[in-house]
Amino acid sequence: MTTITLPALDSDEALLATGSGMLRVPGYSLGERTIQVDEQIAIELVVAARSAAESAYAPFSRFNVGAAVMMEDDPEERIFCGSNVENSSYGGTVCAERTAIFNASGQQLRRIRLLAVSTPATLNAPLEQRSPCGLCRQVIREFADEDTLVICDSGEDDVIGDIFDIERLLPFGFQFARE
Ligand code: THU
Repeated sequence: MTTITLPALDSDEALLATGSGMLRVPGYSLGERTIQVDEQIAIELVVAARSAAESAYAPFSRFNVGAAVMMEDDPEERIFCGSNVENSSYGGTVCAERTAIFNASGQQLRRIRLLAVSTPATLNAPLEQRSPCGLCRQVIREFADEDTLVICDSGEDDVIGDIFDIERLLPFGFQFARE
């Protein structure tokens, strides 16, 4: 177990005058925070995600993605894997991250401890080409709490991956106000 510090993120709210009223740029403030990472589990999940990518069904994009997740509420600490499953009707495609999460949810597990995603073809590309899409970020949020961590596999030597908590992965993610 290693203690790491996620840096603070800060931007002020701004009000912009237009001819017909103000537009607001919302401010965003995240304090620096210290988290515990089990680096053995992190590596295990990245390796599992890389290997899950081999099972992708991606005849259209030819872009394989793998994901692996461990759930906080799983006493057995199982690893649930998923890969992208494409469809002739493109909108039917499901990403690797959602496949893995839905797999875990099917076992009534609802809290993500750590999720790893791997895009073997773009491991050395900018983060935008190897991190979860917006839809998956929203689905991750549904099963996330402040301790949830997401790691994007990286091809760099000596770098396990890029790590996020949910607020850093999806600022202003939608939340339905439940009773
Ligand atoms: N894909 C994922 O599996 N996860 C993401 O977060 C981004 C995109 C898949 C969907 C599609 O099969 C292929 O990558 C190209 O977009």
